[in-house]
Amino acid sequence: MIKAPALASPFGTAGPGPLYPRFFLAGIAVTLTAGATWGAWLLLRIARARDFAAPSIFEVNAHGQAQIYGWMGLFILGFALQMFPAFWGARLVAPRLARALLPLMAAAIAVRAVAEARPAGRFADLAVVAGGVQLAVVATFVALLAATSRRGLARRHVADRYLGAGLVWFLLGTALDLRHLARTVGAADRDALLAEIATWQLPLRDLQIHGLALSMILGVSLRVLPGLFGTPIADERRARRLFWPLQLAILAEAALFPLAMATKRPLLFVGFWIATVVFAIAAALAAANLRVFARPRVALPRVSPLAFARAAHVWLVVSLAMLVAGPFWSRLLEVPFSHAWHGATRHAITVGFVSLMMIGVASRIAPRPAGSGATGAALPLAPFVLLNLGCTLRVSQQVLTDLTPVAFLPAGVSGLLEVSGLAWWATWIVPRLVRASRPLEVARAALAGEPMPPPTGR
Ligand code: HEM
Repeated sequence: MIKAPALASPFGTAGPGPLYPRFFLAGIAVTLTAGATWGAWLLLRIARARDFAAPSIFEVNAHGQAQIYGWMGLFILGFALQMFPAFWGARLVAPRLARALLPLMAAAIAVRAVAEARPAGRFADLAVVAGGVQLAVVATFVALLAATSRRGLARRHVADRYLGAGLVWFLLGTALDLRHLARTVGAADRDALLAEIATWQLPLRDLQIHGLALSMILGVSLRVLPGLFGTPIADERRARRLFWPLQLAILAEAALFPLAMATKRPLLFVGFWIATVVFAIAAALAAANLRVFARPRVALPRVSPLAFARAAHVWLVVSLAMLVAGPFWSRLLEVPFSHAWHGATRHAITVGFVSLMMIGVASRIAPRPAGSGATGAALPLAPFVLLNLGCTLRVSQQVLTDLTPVAFLPAGVSGLLEVSGLAWWATWIVPRLVRASRPLEVARAALAGEPMPPPTGR
C-alpha cells in the first residue's frame, strides 16, 4: 500500500500568491465561451439539420482545441505548476516564466478559435501560428516541470510515473495537433481534407484524452484523493504493474490506427481493436485502484466534490465499454464506422470523466468563503444533476441517432443542460478562486484560522 508522502504547502511555491486560481478562472472562461457554449451551439445546429456534418470540421475542431487547451489544459497547467513542485519537494524553476504561460496560452486559444473556424486566406496561417504558440507553451511547461523535478528531494512515488507520462503525451499530442492543423487548414481539396481527418483525427484524440487526460488524472488522484476526500490509499504495487500495459496500449492505439488506414490491412485494424481492449482493461483497473466508492474516512456533505469524482468513474466505465463495443455496433448497422457512436464515446470520457473529475478536485481545493463553516464545503445539487443529465442525454441520444432522426432533438438539448450545469458551478467556484488568487486574503484567512484548501496528501 502507498504511504502518501507528506507535502510541502502548495502555497508560496511560485512567487506572489498561488498560481492555480488564475489558470482555473481562465479555463472556466474558455469553456463558457469557445468551449462548452460553442459546443452547445454546434449541437443545436446538428439537431436542426439532423446531420453531424452540419457544422464544418473546422468549427468542430476549433471547439475541440478550446476544450483541450483551454478548459482541460489550463487546469492541468495551473494544478501542475502549483502542486507538482510540492509533490516533489522542490521549488518551481522560473516562476515568472510559468506565470507568463497563462496569457500566452489564452491568447493562442482565442486566436485559433476564430482563425481555425473559418480558415480562409490569411486565417489559415493565423491558426497555424496560434497552434505553434500552443506547442511552445506546452514545451516550456514540460521543460519547467522536468527541471523542477530534477531538483526534487522527496521520495519518488508511483504517481510520478503517470504524471511524467501525461507530460510526454501532452507534448506529443500538441506536436501532432500542430501537424494535423496545418494539414487540415492547408488541405488542397476536400479529398485531401477527408483523408487527413480519417487517418489522424482519431490517434490525435487518443493522445490527448487517453494519453494526457487519463494519465494526469490517475497520477494526480494517486497523489491527492486520500488527502482531499478521505478515500483509502491506493495499492502502489498495482498502480506500478498497470503503468506499462496502459501506456503501451495508448501508444499502440495511436500508432496502429494510422498504419491500418494507410495500408488497409484488416489485421492491423484487429491489432488496433486489441490495443483498445487492453487500454480499456488497464484503465478500468487503474481507476478501480483509486477506490473512490469506498467509505471515506471523514463525514462529507450530501453533494460533496467526491460525488463528482464517483460519477466521473461511472462515466469512465461507460466510455471504456463503448470503446470496446464500437466495432460490434458498426457491424450491427452494417456500416464501416459509426460517427454517432464514436462521438458519444468521446463525450462520455471528456465531459463525463475528465470534466467531472476536474470539477470534483477543483471544488475541493478552492478555499471556502470566510465564516461559511462546514456548509461552505457543500456544492449545490443543480450542477451535478444538470451535468449528469446532459451527459446521459447526449451519449444515449447521439447513439440513437443511428436508428431514428427523432433522437437529434434530445441530443441537441443536452448541450444546453451541460452548459447550464457548468455556468451554475462557475457561480459557486469563481468567487472562491478570486479569493484564493489574492495573496493578502489567503494570508489573512490563515492568520484568522479560517478554512484553507486542504492538504493534498498525508
Ligand atoms: C460540455 C459540453 C460540450 C458540448 C455541448 C460539446 C459539443 C461538441 C460537439 C457538438 C462536437 C461535434 C460532434 C461530434 O463530433 O460528435 C464536439 C466535438 C468535440 N469536442 Fe466537445 N462538447 C462539450 C464538451 C467537451 C469537452 C469537455 C471536451 C474536452 C475536454 C470536448 C472536446 C471535443 C473534441 C476534441 C471534439 C472533436 C471530436 C473529434 O475529434 O471527433 N468537448 N463537441
